[in-house]
Amino acid sequence: MPHDFMPGLAGVPAATSSISDVDGQRGILEYRGIRIEELCTHSSYLETAYLLLFGHLPAQAEFQQWTSDVTRHRRIKFRIIDLLKCLPEQGHPMDALQAAVAALGMFYPGRNVKDIENNYWSAVRLVAKLPTIVAAWARLRHGDAPIPPRDELGFSENFFYMLTESVSHPLWADIFDDCLILHAEHTMNASTFTGLVTASTLADPYTVVASSIGALKGPLHGGANEEVVVMLKDIRTPDHAQSFVEDALNNKKKLMGFGHRVYKVKDPRATVLQGLCQRLFKECGSSPLYQVALEVERAAGTLLNGKGIYPNVDFYSGIIYDKMGIDRDLFTPLFAMARVSGWLAHWLEQLRENKLFRPDQIYSGEHNRPYLPLEQR
Ligand code: ACO
Repeated sequence: MPHDFMPGLAGVPAATSSISDVDGQRGILEYRGIRIEELCTHSSYLETAYLLLFGHLPAQAEFQQWTSDVTRHRRIKFRIIDLLKCLPEQGHPMDALQAAVAALGMFYPGRNVKDIENNYWSAVRLVAKLPTIVAAWARLRHGDAPIPPRDELGFSENFFYMLTESVSHPLWADIFDDCLILHAEHTMNASTFTGLVTASTLADPYTVVASSIGALKGPLHGGANEEVVVMLKDIRTPDHAQSFVEDALNNKKKLMGFGHRVYKVKDPRATVLQGLCQRLFKECGSSPLYQVALEVERAAGTLLNGKGIYPNVDFYSGIIYDKMGIDRDLFTPLFAMARVSGWLAHWLEQLRENKLFRPDQIYSGEHNRPYLPLEQR
């Protein structure tokens, strides 16, 4: 059997997919053939989720039905809230989210993933309930009661309401919705691949999403957005950026929010997010972190751009959430709230022509070793 081992499976296709496409040389990302810039300008997160899941932009009646189905399924059972209450409040929200999503699967019958109707309702529930879980945990850990969703509020408006008990500045919901669009899908990344492996065993979608959440958590993937804000706060002022970047690179440390396996130019999501920062700060006052970030990007540019390393999606997103007063450890759960639609789109695609993932390995150990009795070792 031929073995072309590619560490990290870099460049090895794991599936054929029509969900999204990245052109890493030109910095282009499309969902179902539509550029993300266009979706941010014209679409909403819920509409984009529909596009990803079902392959086309919804007609009016389809969109009404989808919006109403998601809206009606935002509530979570009191036992999920009880489960969250049992978790240690200093625990990471990604762990709480993963536990709650795995538990959701125990409440909803129908483990048969060949049931298309049931799969639709699973997708509705997961898209609808993740924000409610994230907001409930954010409040419970501070000793506050969770706030139930309000049906008359849009997806992003309602999330802010469940988090803060007040209706946010309209611009915030608008910008936040764009952030969700930008995080909704991204081809065969680590968390999507993890979900696909789980999906290929015909596990239920709650288990698929719970496994993807686990993979998203790591600092080399979705967890980088938190680390970026820590880094920018450490740097403190723009005039420290140059020396910080030089020190980090001289000591072979990676700059968080920079670099990507596929993009060899600036991540187009980082460009849109930077525009969103500017819109937000024009209306609500600037953020000191943004000024530091600009200087880090400039300093890193001269040293790293030659190697094809530029800001990725995680570089500017945390600055927006920080300005909106969202706790830093919630940034990755926000990513998961958005990415669930992409994970589920891949799950549905995988089910159409499923084949169990069972890759090969190159064995590098010994053969025919004798068993040494304990007293002779
Ligand atoms: N800062 C400094 N140098 C970097 C960075 C960085 N952020 N990223 C890559 N490099 C350098 C490496 O040191 C290495 O240099 P070398 O060839 O001289 O040894 C070279 O670029 C290749 O790096 P790898 O880590 O092997 O490349 P890979 O394709 O695996 O990297 C990754 C992708 C993991 C995202 C990497 O760029 C990284 O760790 N970035 C920081 C973490 C981060 O921002 N993650 C979020 C990614 S986006 C997302 O998942 C949502």
